[in-house]
Amino acid sequence: MPKGRIFEEAADLLRKAGYRLPPEFDDSRKLILDIPEENLRFFLAKPMDVSTYVEHGVADIGIAGKDVLLEEERDVYEVLDLKISRCHLAVAGIPDTKLNDVAPKIATKYPGIASGFYRGKGEQVEIIKLNGSIELAPLVGLADRIVDIVSTGRTLKENGLVQYEKICEVTSRLIVNPVSYRMKDKQIDHLVGRMSSVVEGEEL
Ligand code: PRP
Repeated sequence: MPKGRIFEEAADLLRKAGYRLPPEFDDSRKLILDIPEENLRFFLAKPMDVSTYVEHGVADIGIAGKDVLLEEERDVYEVLDLKISRCHLAVAGIPDTKLNDVAPKIATKYPGIASGFYRGKGEQVEIIKLNGSIELAPLVGLADRIVDIVSTGRTLKENGLVQYEKICEVTSRLIVNPVSYRMKDKQIDHLVGRMSSVVEGEEL
């Protein structure tokens, strides 16, 4: 499970799928939570790290944002679009500014996505990797543009920034370790089926 913003929506989805998660599931500081009555063990990781746990097979299943999956390119199966935590990746910056530099500076938490995006456009850029609060970079002159997640648009607005280009839509996905899928296909298919019914709005 990813900690932070996605957690609440993901836990809600699991409950709707019929999994009985105790109330302490939502506000515990524990990083491993056992739900014996459901025969499930949850690991709580940073959203960017979920696919690492799943790729290495220590977790069979994970919930990861499409942004993380595009950035990390992990060897995992993406089995279901959970349609939660909907947002998009975009290029943003200070309004009415042109990119005249030979290699404009792009600040981002997603160096892989950003360099792929500009390579696709045939534009040479310098990528500056940051770990958060990306919107600060153009305001203080560290970068000409940012490549970042836009959800409500509030962070851009409150910092006087505008979106220049949309890169892609992002939602959370259910991912599975390929070996786990072979070994535990019935259990995993059962979970995926339950989750899928909730996502598609079907009665369980
Ligand atoms: C994300 C993203 C933006 C913000 C966008 O940051 O990097 O800064 O949310 O959301 P909004 O469009 O609703 O304002 P997050 O809060 O995850 O923290 P971070 O800056 O540490 O990455």
